[in-house]
Amino acid sequence: MTDNAFRENVVVLTGGSSGIGREVAYQLAAEGAFLVLAAREPTLLETVAEECRRRGARAIAVPTDVSVEVQCSALIERAIAEYGRIDTLINNAGISMHARFDELKTVEPVERIMRINYFGSVYCTHYALPHLKRSRGRIVAVSSLAGKTGVPRRSAYSGSKHAMAGFFDSLRLELAGEGVSVTVIYPGFVATEIGTRAVGPGGKTLGKRPVRDAEVMAADECARQIIAAAAARRRELVMTRQGRIGQWIKLAAPGLVDRLILRTMERGR
Ligand SMILES: NC(=O)c1ccc[n+]([C@@H]2O[C@H](COP(=O)([O-])OP(=O)(O)OC[C@H]3O[C@@H](n4cnc5c(N)ncnc54)[C@H](OP(=O)(O)O)[C@@H]3O)[C@@H](O)[C@H]2O)c1
Repeated sequence: MTDNAFRENVVVLTGGSSGIGREVAYQLAAEGAFLVLAAREPTLLETVAEECRRRGARAIAVPTDVSVEVQCSALIERAIAEYGRIDTLINNAGISMHARFDELKTVEPVERIMRINYFGSVYCTHYALPHLKRSRGRIVAVSSLAGKTGVPRRSAYSGSKHAMAGFFDSLRLELAGEGVSVTVIYPGFVATEIGTRAVGPGGKTLGKRPVRDAEVMAADECARQIIAAAAARRRELVMTRQGRIGQWIKLAAPGLVDRLILRTMERGR
């Protein structure tokens, strides 16, 4: 709980049908937020919206592909038509990659990941920003520890998450004094369906979960931390002890961090 920072707060949440986004939706619903949920597949999305309403919140499902600019514009228009304002935008939709760069047949998957993770966040932010300035609202961007450092078999994903960090860190500076906070979130491994949607070798969707869920953070814990960071208008949140310590070690001994990452990935995570 976050002292009701999100009670009657109009939240546009992308990637709201699954994993971290679904948990954020449920926890915000419990706080009484007014939700606008976006993702591509409409049935799953509506199921989550329905569950949010059952928990006492107002919630609408707006099927959206965030990699298509006009759909992001329509998403924001729909939010305004429904609630008349936007208080919070959570750019959470994203897909990952589980393949070496030299296993891709073309660079199309790299462009696809960039369009979803980076441009999807940029488009939604562009259309929501005038409304967020009026409400002195909050922008949240869900990056990844792969947005802080390179990770093997995640080159395109890591690139897109570094791009998000650069964009939102810059935007925060531009918005200083305008009352709009920008919070960038860097989760470590979280137990979600991200592996099933990830780009695999050859560029096709992987369709399986390669991460051992029991050994990683639960999605509800990740959501709790995201909501608390957004409520407090923190500039960033780096999750996991390894993530926090790793960013300091990287300054002095980047080669050591590379070796630790290689070892972690070889253990199957
Ligand atoms: N799980 C992890 O270990 C982890 C770690 C660090 C960061 N993250 C980040 O956390 C965020 C959420 O990931 P997750 O782990 O919760 O994955 P997930 O369970 O696969 O959920 C991803 C969500 O994004 C939506 N989405 C995917 N492509 C989309 C598109 N083109 N347009 C609109 N929505 C789209 C999906 O719905 P549809 O497929 O129906 O569109 C789904 O709702 C991502 O940005 C991810 O990079 C995850």
